Amino acid sequence: MMPIHIQKKWRLGLSIALWLVGLHLICAHNDKSPTALSIKEGSDDHSKGEETLLEDEDSEDLEVFRPTDKWQTFKPGQAVPAGSHVRLNLQTGQREVKMGEAEGLKYWRDGNRQGMMNTHNPSFTAEELKEALKKFKEGMDDPVETKQDKDAVRAQFRPIEELKKDMEALDMLMETDVQAMRRLLNQFNNTNSTTEEKVTALLELEYLVHQVDNGQNLVSMGGMQLVIHALNSTDIHLQMSAAFVLGSAVSSNPSVQVEAIEGGALQKLLTLLATPRPTMVKKKVLFAVASLLRHFPFAQSHFLKLGGVQVLSELFQTPGAESLRVRIITVLYDMIIEKELISQVGMDLTSDSSHQERLRQYAEVSLLPVLVEQGWCSLVPELLASPEHDCREKALRTLLAMMAQCQTQYKQNPALTASLSELQKQYQELVLTEQDLGEQDGYFGEILALVDSMVIKMQLV
Ligand SMILES: *[C@@H]1O[C@H](CO)[C@@H](O)[C@H](O)[C@H]1NC(C)=O
Ligand SMILES: *[C@@H]1O[C@H](CO)[C@@H](O)[C@H](O)[C@H]1NC(C)=O
Ligand SMILES: *[C@@H]1O[C@H](CO)[C@@H](O)[C@H](O)[C@H]1NC(C)=O
Repeated sequence: MMPIHIQKKWRLGLSIALWLVGLHLICAHNDKSPTALSIKEGSDDHSKGEETLLEDEDSEDLEVFRPTDKWQTFKPGQAVPAGSHVRLNLQTGQREVKMGEAEGLKYWRDGNRQGMMNTHNPSFTAEELKEALKKFKEGMDDPVETKQDKDAVRAQFRPIEELKKDMEALDMLMETDVQAMRRLLNQFNNTNSTTEEKVTALLELEYLVHQVDNGQNLVSMGGMQLVIHALNSTDIHLQMSAAFVLGSAVSSNPSVQVEAIEGGALQKLLTLLATPRPTMVKKKVLFAVASLLRHFPFAQSHFLKLGGVQVLSELFQTPGAESLRVRIITVLYDMIIEKELISQVGMDLTSDSSHQERLRQYAEVSLLPVLVEQGWCSLVPELLASPEHDCREKALRTLLAMMAQCQTQYKQNPALTASLSELQKQYQELVLTEQDLGEQDGYFGEILALVDSMVIKMQLV
């Protein structure tokens, strides 16, 4: 008779579900046979929940819980007056109650405790559900001491309809990722959905596709094409969210990276970067480009062929896009370093054929000459003027990574020489304050080492 379809994956939900069913049974039972109510001491042992419920039903004993204006735990064998707020604490697995009008079931957060609460229109984002389940898995706290009251009367019990609503909400908890993705893709693909609904669907998808399996599901369900297509949308929120989903789906997911490249994602992303768009859109697009290129030499060659470096050079120099500059050089720096590291690893893996193939692929990515050609030897030094340590650090690392190609230009750049000696002074002082605080290998020391290294390498003939 259990109305909940329980999936293997959600076995955790089972114990919650059983309790609800239990509560349901008790109330249903009591509707028919009003009896004197007795109070008994609730068991704190979660594992006995199921048996306790059955006993309760047989013995016709019913605990009644009188809620106060504070949240309190009540037990599976207890009934609560109609109109109470009831929530399921997914961290402790306990149901909690307090006085108030009934409102439906809702996710709640109270400090670091969280769970489900009644509202009329239960609607959870995937993120909320995941979070709640995660918390629930993290372990059970000691239940709060309960307060019981002999005087509660049957007329005040929560009606079965309300309990059914709770159970429907739990049904949603048991939705698998694949089901959720199907629902979200339908919502996104439905011509009747508003732009806002579509954006919401994308953001919930974004959460799901971080998982490797779900990234692959996105492809097999036809979602990748929908997302790539949405990059062409005229609505900036859709563009931005589509880029966000794409970036997350391809992150550390090689087979999805391949699908995205084959689906023409890179060309669309570069078009978005090359045309006037709000900075917030470009941020997400840069994220997607970076994720698409990472550890994927084929995409990197493609990026070079499509004129990606030129697109980034222009964006870097666009007035108003200063906040994107660090992100841009990070993309470039990561590509330089990736290739460098791969060739270093190669020393002891020369007989590994898949490694040979990678080396061959990276050999086709000829980024540094293009960077020189596009003026990056003089663009990167501009970032040293930034007041932010992080930005300076990225710039210094990138400058060092381009040293072999840029050394002549660096030497002829008086602004760079001046910046470096200024930074050297600043960080020497900062390192002293760091050492005063007992830090020998602090962050400022790290930056100073980069500055010193620049100064020394620039002096080499
Ligand atoms: C869109 O709405 C119309 C009218 O309400 C309905 O007939 C149609 O089936 C809906 N289409 C989709 C794809 O849900
Ligand atoms: C999106 O909707 C179209 C028709 O409206 C349908 O042909 C297509 O299969 C749908 N795509 C997905 C991934 O649901
Ligand atoms: C996307 O937009 C570009 C130009 O904005 C256009 O050339 C292209 O045909 C569009 N693609 C689709 C699938 O709409």
